Amino acid sequence: MKRIVVIGASSSSKSINRKLANYAAKSISFDTEIIDLNLNDFEMPIYSEDLQNSLGIPQKAFDFKREISESDALVLSLAEHNGSYTAAFKNIYDWISVIEADIWCSKPILLLSTSNGVRGGKTVLETAHSRFSRDYKYQIPYFSLPNFNKNFNINEGILDVRLNQDFQAVIIDFENILNEN
Ligand SMILES: Cc1cc2nc3c(=O)[nH]c(=O)nc-3n(C[C@H](O)[C@H](O)[C@H](O)COP(=O)(O)O)c2cc1C
Repeated sequence: MKRIVVIGASSSSKSINRKLANYAAKSISFDTEIIDLNLNDFEMPIYSEDLQNSLGIPQKAFDFKREISESDALVLSLAEHNGSYTAAFKNIYDWISVIEADIWCSKPILLLSTSNGVRGGKTVLETAHSRFSRDYKYQIPYFSLPNFNKNFNINEGILDVRLNQDFQAVIIDFENILNEN
């Protein structure tokens, strides 16, 4: 049984990235337990070095980090706001990054993004992939789904044949990485 932490990196209650991340985690052909984290449960003051020095790191940052450390792998789908991470995700990322250098606990990561635009959040996906991959223990498979409303259906998954082929290939890459563990 693999414990997979799923993160839709958005604070929206209707997050399409959360939907995609959950769909991807369910597509993994192992026996899995899915832990779907809601970023709103980890809302903290905006990161500042002064705050860290005066009050310390918030408990919620340690709670988030514990979910990662107790998992076997992460599926993370990034919403893109103004070409970058959502503020909700970036704040958690900043807080957990000051706990220890190994931010993602050296867990296998599947990195996704989607939007209703033609680029599917590719800019933030590239930023995250480049950053998270630096000296990382594993290769990080990644996939971006453009035009979510057109290309995704909750029952049928990814409707476009070519995009679905790319998605399935990325799922296989991720399964192979999980198999190494
Ligand atoms: C403040 C804001 C900025 C946005 N900036 C971008 C952007 O830079 N690129 C993009 O593709 N979509 C952008 N969008 C549209 C989001 O991709 C869209 O809201 C999407 O649903 C976000 O994913 P989510 O549903 O998982 O939150 C933006 C939306 C908001 C509210």
